[in-house]
Amino acid sequence: MKTITLGSQGLQVPAVGLGCMGMSDFYGGAPEGESLKVLDHAIGIGCIFWDTADMYGPFTNEKLLAQALKGRREKVVLATKFGVARTEEGGFLGIKGGADYVKACCDASLKRLGVDHIDLYYQHRVDPETPIEETVGAMAELVQAGKVKYIGLSEADPETLQRAQAVHPISALQTEYSLWSREVEQDILPTCRRLGIGFVAYSPLGRGFLTGAIRSRADLDPGDWRLSTPRFSEEAIARNVRLADEVAAIAADLGVTPAQVALAWVLSRDPSIVAIPGTRRISRLEENWAAQELVLEEATQKRLEALLDGGVEGERY
Ligand SMILES: NC(=O)c1ccc[n+]([C@@H]2O[C@H](COP(=O)([O-])OP(=O)(O)OC[C@H]3O[C@@H](n4cnc5c(N)ncnc54)[C@H](OP(=O)(O)O)[C@@H]3O)[C@@H](O)[C@H]2O)c1
Repeated sequence: MKTITLGSQGLQVPAVGLGCMGMSDFYGGAPEGESLKVLDHAIGIGCIFWDTADMYGPFTNEKLLAQALKGRREKVVLATKFGVARTEEGGFLGIKGGADYVKACCDASLKRLGVDHIDLYYQHRVDPETPIEETVGAMAELVQAGKVKYIGLSEADPETLQRAQAVHPISALQTEYSLWSREVEQDILPTCRRLGIGFVAYSPLGRGFLTGAIRSRADLDPGDWRLSTPRFSEEAIARNVRLADEVAAIAADLGVTPAQVALAWVLSRDPSIVAIPGTRRISRLEENWAAQELVLEEATQKRLEALLDGGVEGERY
């Protein structure tokens, strides 16, 4: 198992974590019993860096993890997030980062998760109405209170990272990064490197697209959130499918799977990157976990990087 240290405070996690969002929200969900089997298996193989958020479900994903954690809390490095406010019914109430809100969210997450501390607590989106110093100041108080061990941000820009880091060490930035979403390479990854902040790549499989499993809108359930995003329009899928085909061709040459190639490429970009692919299936969990053993030769990396020469159809969101 490849272990990565995120940030200057020494948070150690496996290079491949488990994104739990899809078990409860956005991608169709899964029966609770099935998800619990996946979570149990994840602990068994060592895939113990779990990613959730209060807003997944909303609120039910943390409760699902609470069941899986019962009696073995110490085995898991638990990451959750606050900041995207939702109603119980699923409506969106905007981005929030005020000090009182941060503290109330943390208490609510601790209760839902059934734990006395969160290992890595992220702000899910930066609140443009609240100075980051106030938000991170409140998160630092949570660390002092023993409710949180390490602090992270998600989708924050370089200036925000720098200001946040001046208040309290930031262990990780979680932002989208994959073969078809490489925007972070310009300013974000260099900033993380300079400031000693670890990087957690979300949607490393391109929300599933890079695996080749999604070749038309019909491959997604009618309620799937991806159907409302630009890269999953009929036209975008038709244009982008060549990316998945090329990943599949490279995987075939190497005798591995497209998902493993996509993940190994993300991990190859920097020794301090962790990927958190999401899955609801044990077979894919094992497949994704094994990707940390795959070393891509330079020629293969170059071939993969040339994928974007023809561009990607559609914005990330
Ligand atoms: N910070 C943020 O704003 C943010 C945003 C999005 C996501 N996230 C986090 O990042 C995690 C991962 O991102 P993501 O779920 O959006 O995208 P992803 O990991 O790129 O892709 C997940 C999709 O790929 C499928 N999949 C997984 N492994 C596969 C394999 N080996 N072969 C074929 N298909 C496979 C999954 O389907 P099955 O479930 O059916 O296997 C699912 O539809 C989430 O769970 C969440 O924790 C964070």
